[in-house]
Amino acid sequence: MPLTPDIARLLDELKQLAAISAHPAPAVTRVLFSGEDLAARKWLLARAAEAGLESRADAVGNLFITLPGLDPELPPVATGSHTDAIPNAGAYDGTVGVLGGLEALRAIAASGETPRRSIELIMFTAEEPTRFGIGCLGSRLMAGSLTADEACQLRDSDDRSLEQLRPETCEGDLESVQLREGTYSAFVELHIEQGPELEKAGLDIGLVEKIAAPAAFRLRFTGSGGHAGAVLMPHRRDAFLAAAEVALAVEQAALDSSSPDTVGTTGVIEVKPGAINSIPCDALLEIDFRDTDLDARDAALASIRDQAEAICTRRGIELDWQWINSDPPATCDSGILSVAETHATALGFSHTRMISRAYHDSLFMARLCPTAMLFIPCREGWSHRPDEYASPEAIEKGATLLAHTLLDLANA
Ligand code: GLV
Ligand code: MN
Ligand code: MN
Repeated sequence: MPLTPDIARLLDELKQLAAISAHPAPAVTRVLFSGEDLAARKWLLARAAEAGLESRADAVGNLFITLPGLDPELPPVATGSHTDAIPNAGAYDGTVGVLGGLEALRAIAASGETPRRSIELIMFTAEEPTRFGIGCLGSRLMAGSLTADEACQLRDSDDRSLEQLRPETCEGDLESVQLREGTYSAFVELHIEQGPELEKAGLDIGLVEKIAAPAAFRLRFTGSGGHAGAVLMPHRRDAFLAAAEVALAVEQAALDSSSPDTVGTTGVIEVKPGAINSIPCDALLEIDFRDTDLDARDAALASIRDQAEAICTRRGIELDWQWINSDPPATCDSGILSVAETHATALGFSHTRMISRAYHDSLFMARLCPTAMLFIPCREGWSHRPDEYASPEAIEKGATLLAHTLLDLANA
């Protein structure tokens, strides 16, 4: 039997999953351990059960759905992505990899061929940083890049901990989430590109060779509040204005970087007390800074730090600099990429090698086993917004290539 994903079913499931959202369509919002996240998990497990596939959860809620192979002693091949979504996101980021992976497993089962190795679909917990400020929570713990103790220190904006929030279905202690190297023989993640290159070039598939190195940090500025009418300008220590200068310094450092791939974003800003007639006494920024070139990224970060200190000294502001994460880039496995490339060519899908400027759970899976990513185009490269869109043809090609690649890797 040919290996043919059921595209109508896959598109229908993407639609069903998109409807599990805290904001109305076309927006999708599913924050870690919110009612919507828990409902999406339940819905996914029901789809796996319907397909006759066994599933289990680990202590942080990573879900594993298994298609058994002939030899249970061999390390399985894995695929997967995430179903959580930042506020006002779209329907395709992460979900194409999870539901495309489920469809690939079902297509392999329907082909009548049982591969040597089992194939596991992983739904990673909290690839998005919305709840705890740190991305890839599930895969980070799996790879040991975040320890259980560090995970226990995390707090959300309501000061609730991971221990308080993780549901009863997450059995065991957080230490048990970490996997040893060699647990999987290979990992492949299907994802929308989230950039414009494939669409512009009219190409079907991106074979990802490298994933950019993300860093994130939280800055707290403490100044002095007071009456907006009564305190004259020379006597002010306005925390927000120091934060604003630092946000501009972040932009300038990215623009001045020797690498064209350096990007810096101040995505979170909070100002206290938040009253029009009161001078801001406290401000908080959360800043995301990335590059594929680690040296260029770290040089820009060092310059931002110097400038932030100088700005705060000049303005009489106390600065607290807290790293959220600072991760190295990942290099994808050339063996997996050439398996995928061979199948893409045989299937008649146009393709190119590329880098991922977004981060993904693959960044951490690459520390555990040979890893690669397959990208499909998305409209205008839009992502993290409600009008994110990938065409049925693009999704079909991605899921078909994923199925062929997984079957090949599972027979190796
Ligand atoms: C993942 O969503 C990222 O921010 O790259
Ligand atoms: Mn995302
Ligand atoms: Mn994603």
